[in-house]
Amino acid sequence: MKAIILSGGKGTRLRPLTYTGAKQLVPVANKPILWYGIEAIVAAGITDIGIIISPETGEEVKAKTGDGDRFGAKITYILQDAPLGLAHAVKVAQPFLEDSPFLMYLGDNLIQSDLRLFLEHFQTASLDALIMLREVANPTAFGVAKLDESGRVLQLVEKPKIPPSNLALVGIYLFSHIVHQAIANIAPSARGELEITDAIQYLIDGPKNVEARQLEGWWLDTGKKDDLLEANRLILDSCPDCNILGEVDENSQVIGRVQIGANSRIVNSTIRGPVIIGNNCHLENCFIGPYTSIADGVTAIDTDIEHSVILQGAKVIGIHQRIVDSVIGQRVQLKVAPQRPKALRFLIGDDSQIELV
Ligand code: DAU
Repeated sequence: MKAIILSGGKGTRLRPLTYTGAKQLVPVANKPILWYGIEAIVAAGITDIGIIISPETGEEVKAKTGDGDRFGAKITYILQDAPLGLAHAVKVAQPFLEDSPFLMYLGDNLIQSDLRLFLEHFQTASLDALIMLREVANPTAFGVAKLDESGRVLQLVEKPKIPPSNLALVGIYLFSHIVHQAIANIAPSARGELEITDAIQYLIDGPKNVEARQLEGWWLDTGKKDDLLEANRLILDSCPDCNILGEVDENSQVIGRVQIGANSRIVNSTIRGPVIIGNNCHLENCFIGPYTSIADGVTAIDTDIEHSVILQGAKVIGIHQRIVDSVIGQRVQLKVAPQRPKALRFLIGDDSQIELV
């Protein structure tokens, strides 16, 4: 059994963060989203993993993730020249996959469930495809399945205007080698992509052995800011106890589950967990509230923050209105003068969003 993780694509919905990096490397609780997928796959017993990368962000994914040693896996990087669809990515991965059955994992998806049960069912029932479904409130944003009364999959449609159900396709699939034949027989969709939903439909029509299972626990497609914040909340909620490596002075209070990385200094501040703070951070006169992740090298002074994600090297100084529901990119500088500011001065990248509410 092999696995592929799709970590190419464009990441347009997470701009401006994804102008400078891969969306799959955006951290959730200070760990790249992609790594949760790798860990889930390894926990299910699959260690031969191919990661699909794009020419734009592939080198960064490789440099950060490495050869798989740290995960107990062997990672092979597979270049997809252009984001021509999920089924196109499988086509590009065929020399790596050979005739092996495989798990396909979309690199921006996060799930709570253990993959082992799905894998066991796929193997014991000798399926050609096993898909996972989840009820969602906005099915038009996903691939959607129509089932019969017995739960058999009749039809799959990608991002339908009029959804046949509210059952979305989760971005984790199991396939036998037969899927390569299906992909060879489908044409690009109206949006110009080779759709994996069309390939699975081809298998259903075969008819081949396709089954669907409803996913228990939470599932997030971290494609947008609010999904990212929700993923951060869910992961921090399940984080283990305190681990304080940095220095907390006697005027500071650390309450609840808080992790503070090496060489970080907390001065005259209150940290109310669940919170994770990376290495080499300096926090002074701050309130850091629940569900906040602060990456390495962040400086925050005279600032209140909660339910937010702050990326590496950002500086946030003098913001006394509480910063909430925010994602602050790498090396961003947000400063308010100590006296009441008379003017606002900005250098803000394309697609940034600022709301003074
Ligand atoms: O998240 C679940 C949904 O994922 C499913 O319900 C849909 O059926 C499925 O098409 C997919 O929809 P998205 O619009 O979310 O796919 P996205 O373009 O975001 O791509 C998913 C991942 O695959 C992402 O990590 C980028 C990567 N990718 C995407 C394309 C199109 C590639 O590596 N190569 C590609 O060509």
